[in-house]
Amino acid sequence: MNYNKMSVRDIDVKGKRVLCRCDFNVPTKEGKITSDKRIVAAMPTIEYLVSNGARVILCSHMGKPKGEVKPELSLKIVAARLSELLGKDVLMAADVVGEDAKAKADSLQDGDVMLLENVRFIAGETKNDPALSKALADMAEIFVNDAFGTAHRAHSSTAGVADYLPAVCGFLVEKEVSIMGKALADPARPFVAILGGAKVSDKLNVINNLIERVDTLIIGGGMAYTFLAAKGYSVGDSLLDSSKIDYCRDMMAKAAEKGVKLLLPVDTVIAAAFPSPIDAPVEVKTVPSCEIPDHFEGLDIGEKTRELFAAAVKDAKTVVWNGPMGVFENPTLAKGTIAMAQALADTDATTIVGGGDSAAACEQLGFADAITHISTGGGASLEFLEGLELPGIACLKDK
Ligand code: 3PG
Repeated sequence: MNYNKMSVRDIDVKGKRVLCRCDFNVPTKEGKITSDKRIVAAMPTIEYLVSNGARVILCSHMGKPKGEVKPELSLKIVAARLSELLGKDVLMAADVVGEDAKAKADSLQDGDVMLLENVRFIAGETKNDPALSKALADMAEIFVNDAFGTAHRAHSSTAGVADYLPAVCGFLVEKEVSIMGKALADPARPFVAILGGAKVSDKLNVINNLIERVDTLIIGGGMAYTFLAAKGYSVGDSLLDSSKIDYCRDMMAKAAEKGVKLLLPVDTVIAAAFPSPIDAPVEVKTVPSCEIPDHFEGLDIGEKTRELFAAAVKDAKTVVWNGPMGVFENPTLAKGTIAMAQALADTDATTIVGGGDSAAACEQLGFADAITHISTGGGASLEFLEGLELPGIACLKDK
């Protein structure tokens, strides 16, 4: 895939109506935004467009309203936060491509900013309906995609609209693609990837693609138990993807053949039951990973494993991490994930954390500033690591 795409810098935006797709799919609680990270991440592009005299029409989805207008998924709260961050009014449209949106888009002066309502209030969005793509395009003269978190979706506002307008990337997409693209295509070595999270089946192609590229692959978290089972160990009641045991065996053989070091947990923190609620006190002990007893489940990596994994990170020049090492929402079971975040924070290597839970863990645990790049995309960064072409990027003009 060609990642060398034209950006907002390569076109003249002065006096033009620019439709800018962002990923404002932010977490909320009781009608309030609980993390504005994705809004803040879009600010460099929005500020650039404003200061270069564009007439900015922002759009995004939030949640999965499935083609219905759901007031609790309105982007009004995002418009309010954008106004605060920009220090100027952001006009909020009452609809997506309806009369109000069109009238407001027509009324924009150079440097003005408006936000369309949640694009997923229209059923055509997720179907990449050409009629919706065209209606969005009709409001603008240029399309800017800065929604990295949604770049793996071929929807009207992420890809379809590029059939009707000159399409370039914003600074966030440019940064995500250049940092992760370089890590995959031309990494400083040793290149170490750390994969965790619950299921092997969620990351089959990521494992396969990374084995082609890394020097060391570290597997922790829930997915490690299927690998341990593939080595013939009993894993008690730990999470097991039994249909993927052969796959894990194949991956271990492939790693050996390619001279890739594949590190698995050597000791495991176990408990008699998964904590409920997830952060409830839990009684644990640590056992060798080859001796997880019946009726116990592995819920975090043990101390020896933390040291083993951290040592591999210490020697690396490029590190990519996706997925927690244990049930990090529980303080007793967060030590493995904290140790990995600490190891990334301590190394001089280029460190990249691919979205989702591991990104949340780095932020909650206070390590975010010490990481080179924390991706704003969960699913998107995984598909990127799989080596897949992301439709929201493929549709942009090549440089
Ligand atoms: C995300 O949160 O990963 C993106 O905003 C994409 O959301 P989606 O999974 O609902 O398409």
